Formats: sequence, C-alpha cells, structure tokens
Amino acid sequence: MTVREIRQGIYSVGVIDWDRQVFDELLPLPEGTTYSSYLVKGSEKTALVDAVDAEFEEEFITNLARSGVDGIDYIIVNHTEQDHSGALMVFLELFPGVKIITSARGADLLEVLHQIPKFRIQVVEDGDTLSLGDKTLEFMITPWVHWPDTMMTYVREDKVLFSCDLFGAHYACSDLFVAEKCRHTLLAKRYFAEIMMPFRPKVTEYIERLSGYEISVIAPSHGPCYDDPAYILDLYTEWCTGDLKNKVIIPYISMHGSTKKMVMYLTEALIRRNIGVRPYDVGRADTGQLAMDLVDAATIIIATPTVLTGPHPKIANIAFIANMLKPRAKFAGIIGSYGWGGKTLKDLANIMNKLEAEMFEPVYIKGLPSEEVYKSLEDLADEILKKHKDEKIV
Ligand SMILES: Cc1cc2nc3c(=O)[nH]c(=O)nc-3n(C[C@H](O)[C@H](O)[C@H](O)COP(=O)(O)O)c2cc1C
Repeated sequence: MTVREIRQGIYSVGVIDWDRQVFDELLPLPEGTTYSSYLVKGSEKTALVDAVDAEFEEEFITNLARSGVDGIDYIIVNHTEQDHSGALMVFLELFPGVKIITSARGADLLEVLHQIPKFRIQVVEDGDTLSLGDKTLEFMITPWVHWPDTMMTYVREDKVLFSCDLFGAHYACSDLFVAEKCRHTLLAKRYFAEIMMPFRPKVTEYIERLSGYEISVIAPSHGPCYDDPAYILDLYTEWCTGDLKNKVIIPYISMHGSTKKMVMYLTEALIRRNIGVRPYDVGRADTGQLAMDLVDAATIIIATPTVLTGPHPKIANIAFIANMLKPRAKFAGIIGSYGWGGKTLKDLANIMNKLEAEMFEPVYIKGLPSEEVYKSLEDLADEILKKHKDEKIV
C-alpha cells in the first residue's frame, strides 16, 4: 500500500489484503481486509505502531523503505494477535536495537506466540508515556477488546488514537479516511458483531474513558481511519447500549420442508403485526450478516428439525456461535418439527446457556404443521408483540 501521511510525521504504512475470504477460519470476509500499521516520527525517536500479517512481510518492508525511515527505535504492540504481530519478527532481525513496547499480558503472549525473549520487551502500565522528542505516546491498558493483552496508544500532541482492533472494519479499501459512511457503517457493524459484541461492557467502559480525551483521528488496525471520531464512537455507543429494535431473527434449517413451513408462517404473522423479521436459512446464509442482525434484534427464534435425536448440526453451529457472541436479545424461542422423539429442546438450551433471554413456550411439533400448529404460531407472534410492547420498542 502506498505510504500516506495522516498527520504531520504520522504515516499509514500497512497493507491491503484484497482477496482474503475468511478470518479465524470462521468469519466470512466478503470484501477482504486491511492490516494497518502506523509510523510515528518524532524529532528524536521513531516508533512503529503494530505490524501486519506475516504473509505481507515483503510489502510491509517496502512500505517502510518508501517512508524514508532510516531506523526504528520502538515497535508498539497494541495487540499480539498474528495478523498484527506476524511480520514483527523480521524487524527484530533488521533492527537489532529495536525495543518492543507492550502490556504485561502482551509480553507474555509474544513469548508464547512468537518466542520473543522478555529482554527485548519493555512492559508499560496504564498511563505510562514514551517521548519521541516532539511527540509523546501515552499508553492505555484496555484488556478484553478483544484479547487480554489489548492496549491503545495516544499521540498527545497530534491527538491521534491508535485503537488497534477496537473500531475496526474488515474490508479492503484504498481510502485513508472513511469516505463512504453508509458502506462503512454496515461493515463496521458486521465487525462489531463478530468481534466486539461479546465484550460490550468493556467497550462501553473504554468509550466512557475516551470521552476524557481530545481525539482528532482514530486510527484502527483494520479499515480506514476516522477524522470524525464522534461518528464511530456514537455508533459503538448505540450498538452497545442503544434501544433494541422491534425485530425478530429466525435462523432456520429444514430438510424436507416442515420446519420451513412453520418459519414462513411465523414470518408472515410477524409482518402482519408490524414486527421486523428476518428468516435466515443457515444452510446458505452469511454468518456475518446474521451476526449483524443479532446486534440489536429484541428476539431470536431458532428453528430446526430433529436429526438423530438432536438439533440439525447446522443449527447447532449457529446456536453455538450466537451463544459465543452474547447478543443482547431479551427474548428467545424454539420452533420446529420432529418425527418420533429426541432431546432437541434440551440440547439447544445447553448450547445457548450464556444467553440471558427470556424463553417463549416452544412450538415443537410432530411432522407437518397442522391448522392447530399455525394457531400456536399466531399465539407466539402475539406473545412476541406483547413483549416488545412491554419493552417499549413498538
Ligand atoms: C437423517 C434424519 C434423521 C432424523 N432423526 C430423527 C430423530 O432422531 N428423531 C426424530 O424425532 N425425528 C428424526 N427425523 C425426522 C425429522 O425430524 C422429521 O421428519 C421432521 O419433520 C423433518 O423436518 P423438516 O421437514 O423441517 O426437515 C430424522 C430425519 C432425518 C432425515
């Protein structure tokens, strides 16, 4: 990627991964991603803030050469995950005198993940500063957004915050600063849903803390920078603590059509009651899209047939992911069809043990849905409407 100046003496030197399709062998990346890295040139010392994925080591070195830097004194590791630390090792070889700056948990993980000896690392505490001459770096120890090692780095004189994974977005794009807000909002929400949603209390705490700082630029480690920080801070506040939406998400699977008939009936019944609804056939759905809808849906209804005594494995997988992501949904339910018997309801309850949602009475029936079953689905839709009204989201 071309080296670009964000503020005087502060450069973006990361790389664009145009073609990556999956992250953590789990998250679909329909639009690729970026690994951002930043160079801060002070009057006396130079620091590199985070590195890039090991796959892009060569391009990264080229970027640094093009930036005209003749030496690096410090590498700030805000987070040790390999997509930011993979290309770090080569710098330890290129610049034998370079000092790594990270949190105590970061130092432990660098040793574990890359076998970097502790003597090459300088551990910083919350609020510590490092002078580069005319620029001062201040470190904020902010664990669990989303690993235990996470910290952020703030350049006092320029009011630039290097937020690492917090406020990021996975998409390959050449914009240095967010240029298309509509598109960015969707992709940042997808990223929030997939990565930050389980850590909502911490995210809320850190946003509160950041309100005490004057910030002119937020420079995350994925996606473009923000020269309007309030835009992303407001979105995150909304996603963490804003009102839930009058919306029902129905992840479903159906082998022979019985469960699907129930899902489609419930979908219609909810639309008739002016409740937003999105059924997702999880055999085809993009998990990231579903995760995005989980950010603010008030209700989740899981729909599955019974297969070899339990939920269909594709639904079990989605229920497992939803449980990991800990969405805020206040209400949940299970509908579906079985042939002779099993323990689907019990298995799903076990899988979704972290969800704090109030459960509706299941509509779990034998074979094809009858008129009586459709009546039960009407009752379920009424119950959902009542609960949403009680929550004052209708
Ligand atoms: C491979 C397979 C395994 C099944 N295992 C069970 C089972 O263990 N218990 C049960 O009650 N029904 C079982 N069934 C029957 C289905 O749950 C039942 O036919 C249901 O109505 C299918 O719903 P669907 O049309 O939405 O796929 C099984 C069906 C298939 C195809």
